[in-house]
Amino acid sequence: MSEVASARAAGQSPVIRVADLHKRHGELEVLRGITLEVQRGDVAVIIGPSGGGKSTFLRCLNGLERFDEGRVTIHGTTLLPQMERSLEARALREVRAHVGMVFQQFHLFPHMTVLENIVEAPIHVAHVPPEEARTRARTLLERVGLAAKAERRPGVLSGGEQQRVAIARALAMNPEVILFDEPTSSLDPRMTGEVLSVMSDLAQEGLTMLVVTHAMAFARKAAKHVHVFHEGRVVESGPPEQVLEDPRERVTREFLRLAWG
Ligand SMILES: Nc1ncnc2c1ncn2[C@@H]1O[C@H](COP(=O)(O)OP(=O)(O)OP(=O)(O)O)[C@@H](O)[C@H]1O
Ligand SMILES: [Mg+2]
Repeated sequence: MSEVASARAAGQSPVIRVADLHKRHGELEVLRGITLEVQRGDVAVIIGPSGGGKSTFLRCLNGLERFDEGRVTIHGTTLLPQMERSLEARALREVRAHVGMVFQQFHLFPHMTVLENIVEAPIHVAHVPPEEARTRARTLLERVGLAAKAERRPGVLSGGEQQRVAIARALAMNPEVILFDEPTSSLDPRMTGEVLSVMSDLAQEGLTMLVVTHAMAFARKAAKHVHVFHEGRVVESGPPEQVLEDPRERVTREFLRLAWG
């Protein structure tokens, strides 16, 4: 993308900048000071053992969860722990307008068709004229290989197809960045391949992505940076060839031994 190239050349600030993020659930400190940046056009992958705070971290980034200390800046909008209500509401609207989210369990609206799922937010949140939203939705469905399924309901689609609809739905809002939380964990190997192939294409096209995944081959190929979360901290970060092939931390080595199987 030339737009991405020129943004890089201009040395623009990161799309996501997180500084010293802390999150507690009662006594349990789930995030213990996360500092992390994602640059425009980069793919960052988060790995690490269960319970390490990966999902909590993603939820804090788009305001699905509040946090206790630190600062999150996304596309120039800052979220802080204690914000005045109207300021917080405005910041959350801003952030959510620029951040897409794809979950393990798809979260499509079951009573709507595939096309209706995709145009819902563009029409009702972004106020895109309905005809324009539908035209764009069809283009996105083609891009994820599902042009023929526009009028179906999600329930009759395979898991892999539903996840590709969820990706198209996220793309429909023209996000600055898409956060993926284990997008292939509930899928069989063939469906996993279909979804990862769409994600690899998006990475190649320059979409900024932050992906929690156990799909190591995808991480190795698509990621610019890999971050290892363990007990609420980033214990290791670096390019995939270092973190995945020559890990420094014992936690990373143990996680990888299990993840590669
Ligand atoms: N609403 C909550 N109330 C209390 N504890 C919570 C809550 N949500 C998450 N936790 C705890 O926070 C910790 C981190 O959870 P989180 O789901 O972020 O981990 P994760 O790294 O995504 O794990 P997994 O790989 O299993 O998805 C866990 O110990 C979890 O039990
Ligand atoms: Mg999780």
